Amino acid sequence: MSDLVVRRIGRLTTWRQPVVEDAAVVIRAGRVAWTGADAQLPGDVGDLPELDAAGAAVLPGFVDCHTHAVWAGSRRDDFVGRLGGGGYRPGGIATTVAATREASYDVLAELTQRRIDTALAHGTTTVEIKSGYGLTPDDELRMLDVAAEVEGPAVTTTYLGAHVVPPDRDRADYVAEVVATLPAAVQHGASWCDVFCDDGAFTVEEARRILTAAREHGLGLRIHAEQLARTGAAELAAELGCASADHLEHVDAAGAKALAAAGVVAVLVPVVSLYTRSGDWAHAATLREAGCELAIATDCNPGSAWCESMPYAVQLACLAMGLPVDIALRAATLGGARALRLDDAGHLGVGARGDLVVLAAEHEADLVAHLGVGGVARTVVAGRPIG
Ligand code: NIG
Ligand code: FE
Repeated sequence: MSDLVVRRIGRLTTWRQPVVEDAAVVIRAGRVAWTGADAQLPGDVGDLPELDAAGAAVLPGFVDCHTHAVWAGSRRDDFVGRLGGGGYRPGGIATTVAATREASYDVLAELTQRRIDTALAHGTTTVEIKSGYGLTPDDELRMLDVAAEVEGPAVTTTYLGAHVVPPDRDRADYVAEVVATLPAAVQHGASWCDVFCDDGAFTVEEARRILTAAREHGLGLRIHAEQLARTGAAELAAELGCASADHLEHVDAAGAKALAAAGVVAVLVPVVSLYTRSGDWAHAATLREAGCELAIATDCNPGSAWCESMPYAVQLACLAMGLPVDIALRAATLGGARALRLDDAGHLGVGARGDLVVLAAEHEADLVAHLGVGGVARTVVAGRPIG
C-alpha cells in the first residue's frame, strides 16, 4: 500500500472523466487520491515517490476476470493436432487434470506464480483464478490454496469443481460431491462458484443445482455458458443472477437479451476463438446489440487459451470481434471489475485502488494498433511500480 505520484502522463484514461492530456495521478496508501492536469498538481505531493510517464498514455490496470492459471503439464499435443485439422476437445481437460494432480504443491505454486508474473508484466492488476483441474475435493481445494497464495495483483478465487465429470465417476455422484465440497471451498478462500455448463460438461439442470447450493453457502456465481453449443445456460445465468456469463460464443439474441435484462456481465474470451480455431467472433456484436455490459478476459488455460496477456485479448476483441478500441479497453478494465462486482478497481476515480498501466505508447489506441510486441511499459499495483 504505497504512495506515488505519476507525472507527465500524455493521455490519462480514468473512466470517471474525459481523457486528460498532460496529466498526473496521486496515489496515497495504495488508493487514488487525485487525478488531473499535471500543471495543477496539488502542492503537498513533494515528498511522494515519483514515476515519470514521459508522455505515455496511462490506463487503469487490467482486470482479468476469468483465468484457469493453476495447472501443470502441457497440452501441446492437442495444439499441434488441431493445426493438423482436429477440433477443440474438452476431453483434453483430463490430460491437465492428471498432470495437475501429480505435481507437488510447491511446483504448482511456482508454475502459477510465474504465469501471474507474466500477466502482471502485461498490465493485469486484478485477476480471478479458478480451480477445476483437480476434480477431487482435496485436489480442488489444493488448487484454491495455490491460487490464494499468488502474489502481485489482487486475486479472487473461484471453485470450479464442476469443470467436467471425471471419466471414472458416476455423474450424479460427482455432482453431489461438488455440492458437498462447497463449504470447504469457502473455507479455502473461494469467493465464487463457476460451472462449465455445456455439451460434454454439465447440463443446465446440474448447473442450476450446483449454483443454487453455492449461493446458499454465500458464494458469488459465474458460469461458462454457450461455448460449444446453445444450451440455455445464458437464461440460467439470468435466472440465478450470476455476476457473469463467460464465453457465450453460441448465444443468440434471446439469450443476450436475458443477460442484459438481468445485469449479468457478458465476458468475452477472444483468445479461445483463435486458439481453438473455432472462428467464433459474431457473438460479440449480438451481445453488444442486446445492451449487455461487456468484459474481456484471457481465459488463460493450457487447452483453449495459453495466454496471460490482456493486451493480446483486447487486440483480438478489436480486430477479430470488431469492438471499437474504447469499448474494448473499458471492457478489459471496468467491465472486468463489474464482472467481479468490484467498485474500486478498473477505473481511476478518487478512492479506487492505485492500479494502473503506463503504456509503451503515447495513445491508448496504439495498444491495439501495434501488434505483437507488448504495449505495457510499467504496471503499478496499489501505488507500487512493478519491475
Ligand atoms: O474456459 N471451457 C472450459 N474450460 C476451459 C478450457 C479448459 C481446457 O481446455 O483445459 C475454457 O475454455
Ligand atoms: Fe474458462
